Amino acid sequence: MEEVYVEDRKTIRKKAFIFDLDGVLVFTDKYHYLAWKELADRLGIYFDETINHRLRGVSRMDSLEIILERAAESYTDAQKEAFAAEKNETYKNLLEKMTPADVTREVRDTLAQLKSRGHKVAIGSSSKNTKFILKQVDLLDVFDAVSDGTNITKSKPDPEVFLKAADFLGEEYDNCIVVEDAYAGVDAAKSGNMLCAGIGDARGYEKTDYPLDTFSDILKIAK
Ligand code: BG6
Ligand code: MG
Repeated sequence: MEEVYVEDRKTIRKKAFIFDLDGVLVFTDKYHYLAWKELADRLGIYFDETINHRLRGVSRMDSLEIILERAAESYTDAQKEAFAAEKNETYKNLLEKMTPADVTREVRDTLAQLKSRGHKVAIGSSSKNTKFILKQVDLLDVFDAVSDGTNITKSKPDPEVFLKAADFLGEEYDNCIVVEDAYAGVDAAKSGNMLCAGIGDARGYEKTDYPLDTFSDILKIAK
């Protein structure tokens, strides 16, 4: 059944879209998984795709803590920092292979349409590799603002990354729509008093305001 979005005042006055990166614009989840798996295997810790699911939207150190829940021994903060750096090294080597072909035509066209309709677009991602990824896939120049893991102290589900994105854009918080794939991201958007469109996993989450079947469905709420 086709979804029809209600054209209430709340919807049509929305001006800015804040996009999560991993799982929304690019599919780096597989690289996160491979890099964490390599570390977990080396440490002899069980790790699988289901556990990896819990890491979506969560910061690097919080992700490590989730993986270490199954560790037989406890580690010092210095060891944890080293593990996170090791994982990031593996992850960045995988990111090196990304090219503009890793962003779909649908994503590029939708972003271009939003901008031509007068909407501002920003990134709100927990990743400290955000700018590196955007550069790899040639999206860096598309966004009016980038808020990422390098300018926040609290990771999703805290709203900080989205509030900062709105601040960078000079927009009121309730004038922003977040586009997310992770439950933690939807929770962050809602606690920041923003509307949230959900794709992938977040499509079926009850807190999602606008479920998206496909990325270009965003244009239905971008009047
Ligand atoms: C999020 C991912 O975008 O960034 C998480 O969904 C990841 O899985 C987080 O842990 C932090 O990423 P990075 O690149 O700073 O290690
Ligand atoms: Mg995501």
